[in-house]
Amino acid sequence: MAIIDKLFINQFRNLKSQIISPNQHINLFIGANAQGKTNLIEAIYYLGHNRSFKTKTIKEVINFDFHQFQLQAKIGKNTIKLEKSKNQNNISINQQKINISSQLSQVLPIQIITPDKGFIVNGTPKNKRSYLDWGVFHVKPKTTKLFKNHNKILKNIQALLIQNKADELDFWFLELAKTALKINQNRAEYLQKLKQTKLPNQSKLLKNLIKSFDKFDYKFSSGWPKEVDETDAKSMYKYLSNNTSQLLKNKHLKYGSHKASIIFSLNNKNECFLSRGEQKALSIIFWLTQVLFLVNLKTQPIVLIDDLCSELDDEKINTILQYLQALNVQTFITDIGHNLSIMDGVNSSIFQIKSGVIQQLDLANKKPR
Ligand SMILES: Nc1ncnc2c1ncn2[C@@H]1O[C@H](COP(=O)(O)OP(=O)(O)OP(=O)(O)O)[C@@H](O)[C@H]1O
Ligand SMILES: [Mg+2]
Repeated sequence: MAIIDKLFINQFRNLKSQIISPNQHINLFIGANAQGKTNLIEAIYYLGHNRSFKTKTIKEVINFDFHQFQLQAKIGKNTIKLEKSKNQNNISINQQKINISSQLSQVLPIQIITPDKGFIVNGTPKNKRSYLDWGVFHVKPKTTKLFKNHNKILKNIQALLIQNKADELDFWFLELAKTALKINQNRAEYLQKLKQTKLPNQSKLLKNLIKSFDKFDYKFSSGWPKEVDETDAKSMYKYLSNNTSQLLKNKHLKYGSHKASIIFSLNNKNECFLSRGEQKALSIIFWLTQVLFLVNLKTQPIVLIDDLCSELDDEKINTILQYLQALNVQTFITDIGHNLSIMDGVNSSIFQIKSGVIQQLDLANKKPR
């Protein structure tokens, strides 16, 4: 079960050097625009992924006046430490250096909900795949190897297509089909299990989030063309082999497991026809189901919610927080702080962020402690 007991931040974006001690339930961070709320969410996300959800450039996350940032979190008995600069990449768990970032996600599994990443319903296939594979990974951490291998094979094929080396392709097509089969199986299996996960107290949650939720459905889209049987490696191999000349012409693989997606619908209406409000609400329901599914597997993720209040009304936010509280997951949420009614009935700590300084508020008088 992941609970951040202590968080140390140093030279990460505009955040000043500081330690915070979050509550094990709901933590609300309030502050005006440009004070560091999203930066804090990004810092926690970084600890669990060794990367940002906003940028691929390390320089961007290091404070303008420094060359290195440090982040450290105490999560129960474990301590994760990241010390990074342009030339240095020190990541450790309990003072043991690690080279594989996925080890971080096992100590600190994170479910993030932020408009920065986009909603999953009617989102980009890339975003959908990232949530899908996040789930697959947490159910079966060993699949990391499978995905890495698949990416390597894809890269090889890509290079051969560009270099026009037709005679070497066959071997890699076979390898690709073999790994794609396993990836398809894992993804389809995960979505199937997720669908069987019913949110308890569903009707209340539904009523507050969306009027009718009865026929919210989603299905796996493997990324392979319709004529291909994605449950059969031979069928995928045959497709690649039969279309070699076309692939050499295009110089890339238009179809395959790297193009997988999830197709959502409500009352048999495809996701693209849903209103933005419906897309938002269903995205949240999907994410909450993922959290519940992991909680049931005894992998308790922490939940990061950035800037959701600008998208949802207070009552909906309150419903989500009450729900997360009942699930017993540690949650970090940011808000401008105009209305603290989102915290009604929620066991919470409130922090204020001002110019990168985080201070816990005394709940009795809403002043810094
Ligand atoms: N590498 C950096 N070093 C120093 N400051 C930075 C760095 N990167 C971003 N900032 C600054 O951090 C500030 C806070 O950004 P952040 O996105 O966290 O604001 P926020 O509190 O989430 O605001 P909003 O309510 O508008 O979403 C911004 O003014 C930004 O310019
Ligand atoms: Mg922000």
